[in-house]
Amino acid sequence: METNPQSKQEKRKYSSALRLWHWLNTLVITGLLTTVLINSTLNDRRGAVQAYQENTKNVSLDAAQIQSVIHQQEDRVWDIHIYFGYALTALLVFRLVLEFFQLADQKFIRILKVTYQHYKETKEHRFKAQKKFGVKLVYAVFYLLLLVMVSTGLTLVFKNDLGIPKTISHNVKEVHGFSMYLILAFIAAHLMGVYLAERKDQKGITSDMINGGD
Ligand code: HEM
Ligand code: HEM
Repeated sequence: METNPQSKQEKRKYSSALRLWHWLNTLVITGLLTTVLINSTLNDRRGAVQAYQENTKNVSLDAAQIQSVIHQQEDRVWDIHIYFGYALTALLVFRLVLEFFQLADQKFIRILKVTYQHYKETKEHRFKAQKKFGVKLVYAVFYLLLLVMVSTGLTLVFKNDLGIPKTISHNVKEVHGFSMYLILAFIAAHLMGVYLAERKDQKGITSDMINGGD
């Protein structure tokens, strides 16, 4: 019997909207991390002063002049960071809205509940059930982290308009900066998890995230 292409489409493991979100999100987070990397290496003010003074023998520039040039460069890179930040904000909103439009059995909250229920009730293969639930729980924590990143980031962008005192914006910046390490930890664990899944019991999971799976 011929299969209905419509029903085949609906059975895909990852909807096209989720895949689009996943890869755009990966690109935008890579962009954000790259800007942070540039400002903490190439635009590192102390290192730059030393490098300029060592390499410009016949030009006399004092530390303050060099620092002001580097500061300008740093600000330009932060501007790019903020553009990527707006893109991440839009993607987070898109992901939240998508949750309402996903097919019932592809909704993240439902999958989280089902894997938890399965883990609680199953007597056999408990480790496997625990692992499945654990992976979804890590995704849930990641989504919360995205929310923290976006809300602290937007607070930093609009701190003057919002009239936020310096002491508070300083703490917000600390939270924003620290959360990056949690994001990095997630990415490392996620890539390792996907690699192991490909090698063990979920061969083709990456191409499923590209072509949808069946
Ligand atoms: C910045 C980098 C990345 C981030 C933040 C990220 C984030 C995520 C998130 C949040 C999910 C869960 C989606 C959902 O079910 O709601 C996911 C799933 C997935 N990602 Fe990534 N991802 C990244 C990079 C990658 C890369 C480079 C690959 C492939 C090599 C990949 C492969 C997958 C696969 C196969 C899944 C489905 C896994 C499953 O069903 O449990 N991801 N990713
Ligand atoms: C994965 C997401 C993100 C990462 C890893 C990230 C990382 C960082 C880091 C490490 C800093 C430096 C903090 C410090 O100096 O202590 C920073 C600063 C900043 N971020 Fe983000 N960020 C992300 C998302 C966003 C978003 C969504 C926005 C808002 C649209 C944003 C806006 C800012 C602003 C305004 C600053 C301050 C720049 C300055 O000092 O002039 N970031 N970010």
